[in-house]
Amino acid sequence: MTYENIKVEQRGSVCIIELHRPKALNALSQGLMNDLTAALDVAEADLATRAIIVTGSEKAFAAGADIIEFQGKSFSEAFRQGLITANWERIDRCRKPVIAAVAGFALGGGCEVAMMCDFIIAADNAVFGQPEIKLGIVPGAGGTQRLTRAVGKAKAMELVLTGRNMKAEEAERSGLVARVVPLESLMEEALKSAEAIASYAQPAVMMAKDLVKTAQQVGLDEGVKIERRVFHSCFGTQHQVEGMAAFAEKRKPEFDD
Ligand code: CAA
Repeated sequence: MTYENIKVEQRGSVCIIELHRPKALNALSQGLMNDLTAALDVAEADLATRAIIVTGSEKAFAAGADIIEFQGKSFSEAFRQGLITANWERIDRCRKPVIAAVAGFALGGGCEVAMMCDFIIAADNAVFGQPEIKLGIVPGAGGTQRLTRAVGKAKAMELVLTGRNMKAEEAERSGLVARVVPLESLMEEALKSAEAIASYAQPAVMMAKDLVKTAQQVGLDEGVKIERRVFHSCFGTQHQVEGMAAFAEKRKPEFDD
C-alpha cells in the first residue's frame, strides 16, 4: 500500500509508521490521519506484526492538527462533521502495542496522538505542549483528559491554560514520557523496546495492555477484580505452559503467537 503523508517500514515483527509531511512539520491534516488510520488497520490485521512504532522527523513528531484546514470552519461545520473525532481515536483503539518515538515538536494534536500511544520514548530534543489556547480554541483530541491523567491536574492545568511548551526532561519527570534518550539513538531504543514486546506471548501482551488502560477507566477494587479474572485466564493458554516450562528447564521460551 502506498501513502502520501506517511512512510511505513516493516522490521521483522515491528511495523514503523513515520509521519511524513516535512513542509508542515507533520501537521496532522485529514489526509495524514486517513493514511495513519489505514496503516494501523493493515498493521492490526497482519498477524506477523506484533508491535507498532509511530514516529516523525528529527524536527517534529507533529506540530498539531493542520491549522490551515481548520481555519474558516464554522461551529456548525465542526459539530456536524464531528471534527477530528472521525479517525483520530484509531491509535487508542489499537489492540496491538503502540510506542510513540518522539523527537522535536509534539504540540497540540501531536502531543495528543503521542498520548494515545501506549507509551512515549522521547528524544532529548522533544518538546510537548497543548498550545491550542493561543489559537482561541481548546484541545480537541483528548489533550485535557489524557494530559491530566498523565501529569496530574496542577501541571496539566498550567500547560493547557498558558500554552507553555515542556521539554523532554520535564515531560519525563512529570510522568508523560516513559524514557528520554539521545536523539541519535531514539529509533534504536524504540526498536529495542518494540522487539522485546514482540518476542513475548501476544495474548499476554494484549491482555497486559488492556489491563493498564483499564486502570485509567475504573476504580481500584474493580480494576483489581478485572485483573484477577484475566490473570486466571492466562492459565488456560499454552503460553503460560511454555513460559513456565522454559523457566523451569532454564531455556528461552518459544512463543509462536
Ligand atoms: N498546521 C499547519 N501548518 C503548520 C502547523 C500546523 N499545526 N505547524 C507548522 N506549520 C507549518 C508552518 O505554517 C510553516 O509553513 P510555511 O513554511 O509554508 O510557512 C511550516 O510548517 C514550518 O513552521 P514554522 O515556520 O512555524 O516553524 P518554526 O520552527 O518557526 O516553529 C512551531 C515551529 C513552534 C511548531 C510553529 O510552527 C507552531 O507554533 N506551530 C503550530 C503549533 C500549534 O498551535 N499546534 C496546535 C494546533 S491545533 C490542534 O492541534 C487542535 C487539536 O487538539 C487536535
